[in-house]
Amino acid sequence: MPVEASPDGIPPTPRPSPREYSRTLPLVLIILGWLFFFPDNPVTLLSVSEVAANRLDAQHSALSVLNSTKWGDFTPVVPDGAGDSTGDHDGSSVGDDGTNKEGGKEEEKEGDGEQEGEEPAGPRFLNLTGFREGDGLAWDDLGSFRERCLATSRAAIPPTAEGDDRWLLGEGEPVWQNVSGHLHGTWARHDASVSRQAISYNLTAVAPDIDWTGARSPWARNVTGREGRMKVRLHDRAGPDGDGGDPGKFDANMARAEVTIEDADGSGSTWDMRLHGLHWRRHGALLLTTTSEKFDGIFALPHLSPGPEFFESGQKVLNDTITTKLKERARYLSFDARIPWTSDIQDVDIYSPSPHCEYIMYAQVYPPDREELDMRSFDPETDSMAGVISDIEQELKSPFGNPIRGVPELQLSAVIYSPDCAFFLETKGPPDYPSVDGRHLVGMKAEIFRSRLNTCLLTYALIFAAQIYLLKQQIRETSTPSTMGRVSFYTGAMMLMADALVMGLMAALVLSSESSLQALTLMFCAFTSLLVGGTFLYQVFDVQQQEWIRRREREAARNPPQTQPQTRPQPSSGPPSSAPTSSTPSRPASPPIIIPSDQDIDAEIEEVTRGGGSAGPSSAEAAPTFSSAISRVALLNSCLFFLLVASTAWYPPARSALVNVVVAFYLSLWAPQIYRNAQRNCRRAFSRRFVVGQSLLRLAPVAYFYCVEDNVAFVRPDRTAFLALAAWVWIQLWILTSQDVLGPRFGVPKGWVPPAWDYHPILRLDALESGALPLALTPEEADVAPSSAAGTAAGTTPGSKTVDCAICRENLELPILPARGAHDAKGDGVAAVLGSRGYMVTPCRHVFHTTCLEGWMVFRLQCPICREDLPPL
Ligand SMILES: *[C@@H]1O[C@H](CO)[C@@H](O)[C@H](O)[C@H]1NC(C)=O
Ligand SMILES: *[C@@H]1O[C@H](CO)[C@@H](O)[C@H](O)[C@H]1NC(C)=O
Ligand SMILES: *[C@@H]1O[C@H](CO)[C@@H](O)[C@H](O)[C@H]1NC(C)=O
Ligand SMILES: *[C@@H]1O[C@H](CO)[C@@H](O)[C@H](O)[C@H]1NC(C)=O
Ligand SMILES: *[C@@H]1O[C@H](CO)[C@@H](O)[C@H](O)[C@H]1NC(C)=O
Ligand SMILES: [Zn+2]
Ligand SMILES: [Zn+2]
Repeated sequence: MPVEASPDGIPPTPRPSPREYSRTLPLVLIILGWLFFFPDNPVTLLSVSEVAANRLDAQHSALSVLNSTKWGDFTPVVPDGAGDSTGDHDGSSVGDDGTNKEGGKEEEKEGDGEQEGEEPAGPRFLNLTGFREGDGLAWDDLGSFRERCLATSRAAIPPTAEGDDRWLLGEGEPVWQNVSGHLHGTWARHDASVSRQAISYNLTAVAPDIDWTGARSPWARNVTGREGRMKVRLHDRAGPDGDGGDPGKFDANMARAEVTIEDADGSGSTWDMRLHGLHWRRHGALLLTTTSEKFDGIFALPHLSPGPEFFESGQKVLNDTITTKLKERARYLSFDARIPWTSDIQDVDIYSPSPHCEYIMYAQVYPPDREELDMRSFDPETDSMAGVISDIEQELKSPFGNPIRGVPELQLSAVIYSPDCAFFLETKGPPDYPSVDGRHLVGMKAEIFRSRLNTCLLTYALIFAAQIYLLKQQIRETSTPSTMGRVSFYTGAMMLMADALVMGLMAALVLSSESSLQALTLMFCAFTSLLVGGTFLYQVFDVQQQEWIRRREREAARNPPQTQPQTRPQPSSGPPSSAPTSSTPSRPASPPIIIPSDQDIDAEIEEVTRGGGSAGPSSAEAAPTFSSAISRVALLNSCLFFLLVASTAWYPPARSALVNVVVAFYLSLWAPQIYRNAQRNCRRAFSRRFVVGQSLLRLAPVAYFYCVEDNVAFVRPDRTAFLALAAWVWIQLWILTSQDVLGPRFGVPKGWVPPAWDYHPILRLDALESGALPLALTPEEADVAPSSAAGTAAGTTPGSKTVDCAICRENLELPILPARGAHDAKGDGVAAVLGSRGYMVTPCRHVFHTTCLEGWMVFRLQCPICREDLPPL
């Protein structure tokens, strides 16, 4: 439709009726709710218990395999030099006493040369999915994986100078006993010695019950880039015997990790997975694995451990845990067929999963950095170091106010081995990489993270409180129809959208994290802000709509033929500096747009667009309703929310570009106000304190995520982008300020905006002579203003005139400029513009102090002298 650009930046596309919006919105919400609460495939709901029972059987038999196997039963590759080891498969090659380097050496090798003592030499496999010979996984590199694991541990806790590898005995340097925490770092990829493709596997043979989707296409989680970033969230769970007391040397407990691997260079994807496994606390060693329909990782995990002692303790813990878990599962059989150790974070499709690469991850905890500890009251002995660590962990777990001497960061190094996709990932850091390239995985312990998150949430809640306070003050100032008329609906709507987004995110956080109290606080603040802002916006909308309807009716009464394009009536002799009537931009002839006298043509265009140009004069139904406007905003907001959620799986540069665009859109919140100011030729919709305060408060969270290195979301800071965003807000603030000081249309070409009454005309001599000036100054009316210099022939000399302000009864100085000469024909100078700010001339040619008339106009839009209607300010 040939409609001019509509006000406030919303493109004038044909809009569905409000009713359509209110129909689609609940639908979207229902779908949303369905997706959130019923992730399983509803079509196959009937067979859940059947599937679950089959799975439980399979898991029980896998458990019995785990229960009945011994160290060395899984030896997929028999090494060449298998003759030099004396270890037997009962695995007690390392004594507890006085073991030296030889013991360690033996230990390291026995995984390879274990069973040639009594068993016939030859590869041995487990009867577990993925660990059978026929499954064809690339186990050739298992030995090399074990070597890398040991090398990783030795790099973190080196043997003593005498060659004592005390780490292997669980007597190395003390490390954190609880590794729950959030870490991030970079990885580098190495190929394994063999290669595997998706077509190397016959998934039907590996897992016959499963209906695989896309088994022949490249698998998910196939990392192909050379390096990238990764995030790890570790959850260290107390073992079945609780976490009280000193763990035995090889005691293990269960641990879980949520790993996010960004593969920007290779597949361009970000892979999320969950690994389950074991944590040997005395060693600070973790061994975790993915488990899926085609890989019984958790049941074979002890066989992948560094040595027989690790195997035994791991087997015991897993046996207990899995037995308990399976008993628990039996109770939920009827509706839950998921695998308890699944590596899928979302668990979306358990019936026809798509294949992905499996991972085995080994991680070594680094001893805490002593420099971050206040060691003054300790002698740096190993014993006391363990004591310090235990003290800190006790205090973190249940704060009693004991002095904590700093909490060093959590640091881990990790090796990831994919036995089916055949590659290794290693975290980058010393000694293989200089420490500028990375320090393996660094982060903070869960308690520290949580307290930092809580601080952030509460600070944000305070920010919201301040926003509400500012809003309250603004509402007090903007309480009359004429002041509400100035406010841009879209500026308010953008603030509401941001508040609603925060509320949505907090709702998610309340459900998913331990900081739910703080998240609830923030959610409550956001909700209050939403409520207060929404009410205010409703009033604003209502006032603007009433204004519009009244004006329409007046227009209709005045000009019965509605289809005539028309401009607002100008006073017969306008001040010379105001736009001449003929400067109205030419408009397309059809459909005609009637410009109401306050130039508030949004509603007009809405009307014309919706009615296809044939809409009759206003009835209340024809006007846009608040619910239609707000549901449009809500719909846009839901789309944004979906887009942001969906973007978590995007190529990282695309995702950060999207986030930047969304944030830039959000921070453009003053632009609609600037536009409305120029359109309506009004200013000071919001107080300066509100504008500056809101800008700062809304920039603060953005600044946190864009500038702080260790932020709670672990997003990479991007200070350049933040500077650009801040500059953009700064520019908007300056434009708003200059509109305030110099006039809303200063610097805007006349043709761009509809004509409006100029309350601050620049008074010139030639205009005075032509009689086009305030009544008080024209010669014949000069005596009306008693205190003016009536004797002088008004309008003959430049300088200034003094008249009487009818509101405050004080003198009003009017600067009169000389007739427009050749030298300043281009336009009015800034000085002249500023000079004209002191007085206001109404369309009925009465003149007042600016402060007086503005104060008056807050309450009535009528001339105090002659009761003529005044255009809004
Ligand atoms: C298997 O586990 C049960 C308890 O769950 C235990 O009693 C039994 O000794 C275990 N068998 C083997 C061979 O470890
Ligand atoms: C492997 O386990 C399955 C049951 O899970 C059993 O049917 C099969 O006979 C076992 N195979 C061998 C070689 O033990
Ligand atoms: C995969 O295994 C199934 C069952 O063992 C067999 O019927 C099928 O022919 C195999 N497919 C291929 C491509 O080898
Ligand atoms: C993983 O990616 C590599 C390189 O693109 C490809 O050769 C290989 O077949 C993929 N593996 C799987 C299992 O899809
Ligand atoms: C480790 O700390 C986390 C967070 O405080 C706690 O939930 C977990 O139970 C602890 N684990 C152990 C083994 O103490
Ligand atoms: Zn006054
Ligand atoms: Zn008047």
